Amino acid sequence: MEHIYPIFDSLIQRQDRERLLRQRAKVVWLTGLSGSGKSTLAQQLERQLHEEGFLAQVLDGDNIRSGINNNLGFSEADRMENIRRIAEVAKLYLHTGVITINAFISPSAAIRQLVRDVVGPTDFLEIFVDAPLELCEQRDVKGLYAKARSGVIRDFTGINAPWEPPAQPDLLIPTGKMTIPEATQLLYGFLLPHIQFTETDA
Ligand code: ADX
Repeated sequence: MEHIYPIFDSLIQRQDRERLLRQRAKVVWLTGLSGSGKSTLAQQLERQLHEEGFLAQVLDGDNIRSGINNNLGFSEADRMENIRRIAEVAKLYLHTGVITINAFISPSAAIRQLVRDVVGPTDFLEIFVDAPLELCEQRDVKGLYAKARSGVIRDFTGINAPWEPPAQPDLLIPTGKMTIPEATQLLYGFLLPHIQFTETDA
């Protein structure tokens, strides 16, 4: 872009902020079907991280879409733009030393690759929140699957819009077979070595 000079090399570096917070920042990216448990898991993880002294922030489909992304729908192009903006927001947090827990369907490999490209591969952790479509539909917490089946909602992921499961996620959480506390512990245990501040970081 002409005449635009992004400033990422200010005097205070990400490392300085991580030292202040005594943590290492990461972008935790939960991908999965609507109703698979992403939001619940994100909130539980945020609470646990907070209790253990980590600074973390949930970014979630349902709140982001009512705020900065309230002009976007669910076409492929809109989903791509939705995720692109969120990835940029997550990157800002990353450079502030803050862990983000992102809960978005992010339905395709291309969309998730976009996040990896924006955030950078070493800071992006792809977590597959894996509950079978039948289970999500049977639970139908928001009543959206029924609306998608009856044609009231179009382009609904898994029903009449595509869902590509991640081929090689950093972690797979089978939320259909676990309790919420078990799933939270699995995720927390996986994440801890990535965010722990060690004296060699100082
Ligand atoms: S994404 O595909 O762009 O990643 P995002 O996670 O932001 O989706 O939003 C998904 C949430 O929007 C769902 O949990 C659901 O509550 C709601 N929603 C409304 N319409 C749709 C739709 N057509 N497809 C998927 N989710 C939808």
